[in-house]
Amino acid sequence: MRKKISLIGAGQIGGTLAHLISIKELADVVLFDVSEGLAKGKALDIAQSTSVDGYNINLIGTSNYEDIKNSDVVIITAGVPRKPGMTRDDLLGINLKIIKQVAEGIKKNSPNAFVICITNPLDVIVMAFQIYSGLPSKKIVGMAGVLDSSRFKYFLSQELKIPVKNIDTLVLGGHGDTMVPMPNHTTVNGKPLSEMIEKSKLDLIIERTRKGGAEIIKYLEKGSAFYAPAASGVEMAESYLKNLKKTLPCAAYLNGEYGVKNLFVGVPVVVGNLGVEKVVELTLDKNEKENFDLSIKAVNELFESAKKLDPDLKS
Ligand code: APR
Repeated sequence: MRKKISLIGAGQIGGTLAHLISIKELADVVLFDVSEGLAKGKALDIAQSTSVDGYNINLIGTSNYEDIKNSDVVIITAGVPRKPGMTRDDLLGINLKIIKQVAEGIKKNSPNAFVICITNPLDVIVMAFQIYSGLPSKKIVGMAGVLDSSRFKYFLSQELKIPVKNIDTLVLGGHGDTMVPMPNHTTVNGKPLSEMIEKSKLDLIIERTRKGGAEIIKYLEKGSAFYAPAASGVEMAESYLKNLKKTLPCAAYLNGEYGVKNLFVGVPVVVGNLGVEKVVELTLDKNEKENFDLSIKAVNELFESAKKLDPDLKS
């Protein structure tokens, strides 16, 4: 039987997710949006593209939560994106309200799904989604690390003139300006990155990675990045659906790992058909640990602000 992926939010990322999923024939797709016309229009447009290319999947657009029933995977992009000059944190109040409605819809109609959250500010929205929905934390992840790592890898590949495929890297921590690119856990053709690049150039690339989202918003003026975020979400969904057990940096629930308790934050996890099957604990050097702790602090502070906005998060 074909798998089913529901996309909550049929905007820029939601539409791109639907297109990528159909090209990969990964699953049937339900595009859900409060704007019914947007969801139906995009679903129909992509469905018509499948007959050009001969892809064998079904797509529907809807604003009725019952249509997401029994999804294997749900990917959430419902919310408002950043405008130039805004930080991800500026989206907190509005996106928190949206995620509360979304959590109710998913809890009622697809409580067994693997849920990938993309809405920003990522780490706190994932945490809020877990509290609102009550779904098991192993079945909930936030998409951030795959995207941040892909940006880091791309910038390195441009600087080193080496194909992206030959670079292995990782970005940990929260999905914000305090994210932690990990040069010491980066290899190029299996060699340590430090042997391939001057420190000053590496520092610039790390800074550019941290501001990777803002760079795109500045160009686009309206809306934020959507191709790379969607590609990242699909990689996570695929690892779950096909039980690939890839180790991917995701915002995952920590219960003591990395010295952090009761918080969703970006760490490498094994994603298989049970959801988050393992949190991979890397040894961090002093500098990495300091940066990781700063990132945790920023996520914690933002979560405290979220609790002030909605006392329901205090439970
Ligand atoms: N339920 C379902 N969909 C909703 C709701 C809701 N309560 N509220 C808003 N939406 C829909 C909007 O109608 C819109 O179509 O969410 C969609 C968001 O799409 P875009 O505005 O195009 O935003 P996008 O670029 O896809 O980003 C979505 O992901 O990366 C993050 O920061 C980004 O938080 C933003 C989210």
